[in-house]
Amino acid sequence: MKTSIAIYPGSFDPVTNGHLDLIERGEKMFDLLIVAVLRNAEKSPLFSVAERVEMLREVTRQWSGVEVEVFDGLLVDYARKRHAGVILRGIRAISDYEYELQMALMNRKLEPRLETVFMLPGETYSYLSSKLVREIAQLGGPLQGLVPPVVEERLRAKIS
Ligand code: PNS
Repeated sequence: MKTSIAIYPGSFDPVTNGHLDLIERGEKMFDLLIVAVLRNAEKSPLFSVAERVEMLREVTRQWSGVEVEVFDGLLVDYARKRHAGVILRGIRAISDYEYELQMALMNRKLEPRLETVFMLPGETYSYLSSKLVREIAQLGGPLQGLVPPVVEERLRAKIS
């Protein structure tokens, strides 16, 4: 029996097939997986937070154990509020490791009861990122296999 709540935080601008792969793996491990979109005023995102949440809800609706929410402020505060014991993050390659390690250790310093769990997405997605997806979309390249069809449509509409 699964008895835990995990948070999968990120920018998700936009959600990719790599994110979805991780959500699918996380959904099997935890009672509840909360996909938490950071409302970050500093960045200039392609999609608004509301659009990102809408796309995430659409592509995760087959999983009853997955919720999509927005969060502000410190991740550890949000985790406490949601009674989550785990932060889920994906590591695609060794280049992700340093940043992820720093974040995980800082979060541990801020809240020692919170564990960060790293999972590997399928190797097909090891080179995939939202940043590259946005660039390919902006330059009119093919997006098939990189993002769900609904996200591809939204990207095309946004760019045109
Ligand atoms: O998808 P991203 O942009 O790599 O996600 C980064 C995210 C949202 C996980 C990180 O920026 C975050 O947790 N921000 C919330 C503010 C916070 O808690 N900062 C301290 C982290 S050690």
